Amino acid sequence: MKRIVILISGSGTNMQAIVEACQAGRVAGEVVAVISNKDGVAGLDKAAAAGIPIAVLSHRDYPTREAYDADLQQLIDGYQPDLVVLAGFMRILTPAITRHYHGRMLNIHPSLLPKYKGVNTHQRALDAGDEEHGVSVHFVTEELDGGPVVLQAKVPVFAGDTAADLQQRVHTQEHAIYPLVVNWFCTGRLRLTDQGAELDGELLGPAGYAAD
Ligand code: GAR
Repeated sequence: MKRIVILISGSGTNMQAIVEACQAGRVAGEVVAVISNKDGVAGLDKAAAAGIPIAVLSHRDYPTREAYDADLQQLIDGYQPDLVVLAGFMRILTPAITRHYHGRMLNIHPSLLPKYKGVNTHQRALDAGDEEHGVSVHFVTEELDGGPVVLQAKVPVFAGDTAADLQQRVHTQEHAIYPLVVNWFCTGRLRLTDQGAELDGELLGPAGYAAD
């Protein structure tokens, strides 16, 4: 069983999907802690209800990103994780911490990367008139939302959609693909090499596995 630490900042529905998949035996891992940079968020209640140890490390108590990330790293490492999963963790990480977890930190981002790095992805897809939108799971590197993509899921954009409609449609896909990718990692099928993300020894393309 791989040890998984999940970082959140909000509602924690992706965290919950991964916890449930682990508890149901669909992921060969165990979530050993859920850490939030915000107190009082719904994700912490969900984790506690599932019997997962929770911790809060508020960024507000720190003068710099470097100081925060140093303590965050220490907190995470206390749980001795094999994998760190960012699930709606809304903080830009410093190069030092991304290097420390190189090859063992995943993120989910609500766009078809490399499109729409950063925030407000659903509105930006609407504003651009895109006919499809989606979500990407990728390894975390120093470049914000820029690490090798492992898997994407696409959703259609319908006339009259709002950003909230898109967010909901994307969320449904997130809950399906994130546990799958976490399981690939936990079973040793997925790894990060100097060339990029590899699944079953095959180098994945820029859109990850199973792009059409
Ligand atoms: C998810 O949609 C995730 O893709 C996004 O935050 C949401 C968290 O939802 N992540 C980012 O925007 C990262 N840049 P959740 O807390 O319900 O899992």
